[in-house]
Amino acid sequence: ATVRYEAETSPATCAGTIDSNHAGYSGSGFCNSSNAVGAALQFTVNAPSAGTASLAIRYAHGGTDTRSADIAVNGATVQAASAFPATGAWTAWSTKTVSVQLNAGSNTVRLAAATAAGLANIDYLEV
Ligand code: GCU
Repeated sequence: ATVRYEAETSPATCAGTIDSNHAGYSGSGFCNSSNAVGAALQFTVNAPSAGTASLAIRYAHGGTDTRSADIAVNGATVQAASAFPATGAWTAWSTKTVSVQLNAGSNTVRLAAATAAGLANIDYLEV
């Protein structure tokens, strides 16, 4: 079954602010990372068994640039400068899917801004 991990809910950590000023998010808000290289959002996700898992990352990006994030699982980068293209508005939420290997049990999934623009606004991660 798909489990949703909200960016605003502990144990997730957002290097920035939890905002709620752009409609359409799930839960009580979203992570607006600092506009800085390395600004990170980290999730802790549980996997019933080891193996390949699909991560669905819901985000919005109302700018015109492409935001990019280094995606790390359990401390190892699995995608460097992974693209989060513009969605047209800060209220237009899209889902980006990434296939990763998870361990059985607890895993960390970290999105760290690859450029000074910071991350896109991130709503949640589903596994
Ligand atoms: C705007 C927008 C924020 C967003 C920021 C950015 O300030 O309101 O939600 O995070 O731009 O460019 O990252």
